[in-house]
Amino acid sequence: MNCLDVKLKELVFATAEYESMLLLRNEVLRIPLGRVLDEKDLEGEQWQRHFALVSVRGDTLAACLCVRDLGENTYKIRQMAVSENCRKRGLGRRLVLAVEQILLHEGAQIIVLNARITAVEFYRKMGYSICGKTFDEVGIPHVKMQKNLAGEKG
Ligand SMILES: CC(C)(COP(=O)(O)OP(=O)(O)OC[C@H]1O[C@@H](n2cnc3c(N)ncnc32)[C@H](O)[C@@H]1OP(=O)(O)O)[C@@H](O)C(=O)NCCC(=O)NCCS
Repeated sequence: MNCLDVKLKELVFATAEYESMLLLRNEVLRIPLGRVLDEKDLEGEQWQRHFALVSVRGDTLAACLCVRDLGENTYKIRQMAVSENCRKRGLGRRLVLAVEQILLHEGAQIIVLNARITAVEFYRKMGYSICGKTFDEVGIPHVKMQKNLAGEKG
């Protein structure tokens, strides 16, 4: 697929596209750790939102993330994944910034996430700051990061 020929799409829970997203998440976020997505990973996803960059022609997913509403205008980005052969071409940035704009127009003020240490620099470039200590999740170090969207509208 041409990684740059993609568009943003919101995926509906429990559809074929949602299943394709699970395959990408498994491939990018779990298999390299010797794991697979489990029940805990998928808990509550029927109430979450799912966004992806999908190929314009077919339905190949290049990147995806999930969003959980934590209340009080705060949202959590989780399960961010870019297909290995599409990395470092700006897709991660495009997806995060596009989803932030959608959430901002729906009233979001704060976005939080648990970043893998290996992805901290990526999120820093997107305007996120570290706001906690390092902790373990799925067997690898993570750190909490957040971004205040105040001033981003317009
Ligand atoms: C981390 C990830 C989402 C980044 O996506 P991407 O599409 O490759 O990132 P982009 O091309 O949009 O990069 C945007 C900027 O961040 C930088 N960047 C991207 N990944 C980086 C990394 N791991 N470390 C340092 N900088 C990184 C890019 O160089 C670019 O910088 P620039 O603007 O100065 O050129 C992707 O590499 C990925 O899916 N990794 C495996 C899964 C993962 O770690 N997910 C996050 C879990 S918290």
